[in-house]
Amino acid sequence: MATASAPGKIILFGEHAVVYGRPALAVPVLQVHAVARADLVTDKRIGEKWADAILVEAPDIQLFSPLSHLLREPTPDPLASVISSVFQLLGISHPPALKITITSTIPVASGLGSGAAVSVAVIRALAAALGHSLSDEQVSQLAYETEKLHHGTPSGIDNTVIAYAKPVYFVRGQPIQIFSVARPFRLVIADTGQAAPTKESVGDVRKLWEADQHRWEAVFDKVGKIVVAAKEAVESGEIASLGPLMDANHALLQEMTVSSPELDRLVLAAKAAGANGAKLSGGGRGGNMIALVQPEKAESVASALKAAGARNTIITTIE
Ligand code: PMV
Repeated sequence: MATASAPGKIILFGEHAVVYGRPALAVPVLQVHAVARADLVTDKRIGEKWADAILVEAPDIQLFSPLSHLLREPTPDPLASVISSVFQLLGISHPPALKITITSTIPVASGLGSGAAVSVAVIRALAAALGHSLSDEQVSQLAYETEKLHHGTPSGIDNTVIAYAKPVYFVRGQPIQIFSVARPFRLVIADTGQAAPTKESVGDVRKLWEADQHRWEAVFDKVGKIVVAAKEAVESGEIASLGPLMDANHALLQEMTVSSPELDRLVLAAKAAGANGAKLSGGGRGGNMIALVQPEKAESVASALKAAGARNTIITTIE
């Protein structure tokens, strides 16, 4: 038996533009996590008979699914895909029977990286149960393959920040850069309660871009500049300048049509309650927003967000 856990994540700056090669900043959120447990059933091996030899249970979402039949072919099922990719990487052609149990406190389709966190936890638990330890890079790569099933054309930021569990300055296709936080700062994360599949908002931005590449490349450039300025601010402890940068990033996300009335309402409510800056985080259209707050204002901003309709809030310190 082996267990592994993976944190949630938020994107601080740069979502969507990151799909088009601009940088983004993301950090793990340790208050929420996915946990996977892999139990090998050693007296039973998968040979000709595949039925029921691999069972995935996720009681939180009432999933009790024998997946074995999905493992023979390339599959669109994210869990089956992640499991078979581990077998493939480890060169296991006749996997033992096993049961994988997944629990998660990360809300689904809300921009906190639930899909990538489940993948990372399953990969690590399964590899450990099979007697292997994978590097963060290997785990991230495997999770990326599955992110493609969730997202369509993912940048890779979710699997990277979650597999490394460190603050990441991410540029698609480039080696991971960890950034340092000179002075801790506090964020309130608020969930609109509306699930919004990232695949759709990413697809819609793609359509905008295809119709007018010149315009949207310029918008993505503006986002890229905000991200670079935000990284410098975080690394030098200039936290005060992060608020206006968040506001500017949110305005550009609105222009990309990925905000929503609920997200905008929460952003305004946070600002009215004294947040220094606020923006949607992740794919948008629903899911989560983040607000930068002075530590002493965290509770009152969180209350204001709840009063404005937030389903749930998390107060987190980035350090
Ligand atoms: O919705 P999330 O948090 O999984 O974030 C997706 C971030 C995007 O930039 C919108 C897409 C991507 O693949 O980077």
